[in-house]
Amino acid sequence: MSVNKEIKKVTTHTLQKMKAGGEKISMLTAYDFSFAKIFDQAGIDIILVGDSASNVMAGHETTLPITLDQMIYHAQSVVRGINRCLVVVDLPFGSYQSNSQIALASAIRIMKETGGHSIKLEGGEEVLDSVSKIVSAGIPVMGHLGLTPQSIYKFGTYTVRAKEADEAAKLKKDALLLQEAGAFAIVLEKIPAALAKEVSESLHIPTIGIGAGNNCDGQVLVMHDMLGINTEFKPRFLRQYLNIQEQVDNAVKKYIADVKSKDFPNEQEQY
Ligand code: KIV
Repeated sequence: MSVNKEIKKVTTHTLQKMKAGGEKISMLTAYDFSFAKIFDQAGIDIILVGDSASNVMAGHETTLPITLDQMIYHAQSVVRGINRCLVVVDLPFGSYQSNSQIALASAIRIMKETGGHSIKLEGGEEVLDSVSKIVSAGIPVMGHLGLTPQSIYKFGTYTVRAKEADEAAKLKKDALLLQEAGAFAIVLEKIPAALAKEVSESLHIPTIGIGAGNNCDGQVLVMHDMLGINTEFKPRFLRQYLNIQEQVDNAVKKYIADVKSKDFPNEQEQY
């Protein structure tokens, strides 16, 4: 008798059901095969192949330099490591802003070349045509409002967004427009918790918060921040679950000492 080992995969429909049933959605970024495998096996609902790869993988100051080809490389590696979770891939800066044809072509490249399940792009009203076009092609789209790092030079800082009434009103309108255009979820980054609650309650699609309080339908963190790989970044919204930087530093120092003292390799560690 064969045992049915079929795994129930997370889809965009699963996420809608989770929102309707009040179950919170967990999302983390990942950029490579090995971490994606660990996160998927741990039971994460969504892996975001974020353009934050530009910062945490490539060492750039902003997300702007990363290219579509580089995002595709990261996404391919992540998809090879997962079996259950939904994979969302960021459209990088410059790959969708010019017009909806270019946006669709970029989204198609991601879907064809990576095996990812959906794409994410930043902005509201200004990217609506692109969202509709991509959704019409059968590609699930996640929106991203609030702090949108690809527009950092427009805003000048990474401070909390939509504190003023006019910006909050635009964000609420943008969220509804994204939903109408067919987005399956929206990331809300660094906005007041009360505003995120209002937006989340006004939508039937899930919101995923980062620095947006506890009333979003899910939460996302950048893996390097929550695992303590990158320890310089300590915003108020971050909960750090590990200090990998310290543990790796200790391990590498011990290894160097063992090599120098000729303790490594010992007799059992050779042929
Ligand atoms: O690129 C990224 O990591 C993101 C998250 C911060 C949501 O967009």
